[in-house]
Amino acid sequence: MKRHPSLIPLSHDHHDTLVVAQGLIRGRPTAPRSDWPTDRRAQADRLAAFYESSLQPHFAAEEAEVFPLAERLLPDHAELVKALRKDHDDIRAEILALAACSDADLAVRLPALGARLEAHVRSEERVLFEALQNAAPPAELDRLGSTLRQERRRTVACATPGRAAAPSKP
Ligand SMILES: [Fe+2]
Ligand SMILES: [Fe+2]
Repeated sequence: MKRHPSLIPLSHDHHDTLVVAQGLIRGRPTAPRSDWPTDRRAQADRLAAFYESSLQPHFAAEEAEVFPLAERLLPDHAELVKALRKDHDDIRAEILALAACSDADLAVRLPALGARLEAHVRSEERVLFEALQNAAPPAELDRLGSTLRQERRRTVACATPGRAAAPSKP
């Protein structure tokens, strides 16, 4: 089903997350021009950078806006939302723990983490987002979309400090 415009930015994030997840699962580049590394330590570093730039703000937006709306409008999906919140907690902890892992540990943990990321995104896309856009009144979806856009602008501005203070060209 076509994704409602309010949820499209999160669906784009999901696409990026699936690409990273495939790299973690396969342990090698998944497309001809991909620069995904084959070294597991380098993959862990890439995942940590992706978490900081994309995944953490994405999780935060879902936890602040999407999950509460789902809990309010979709009482029959309460168990799913609970499981998705637990996924976030577990995935965060797993990613933060990677820096201390041996290469042998990484070879086991990165594919498992990729599989969990993939399953998490599929649940959100195929079940939660579908149910939400079917159940939510249009005004609720519009309000959600506008809140998510504002939050994204704020996150991007916050991630690029000093831009306004950059020296002017001679
Ligand atoms: Fe999520
Ligand atoms: Fe998500």
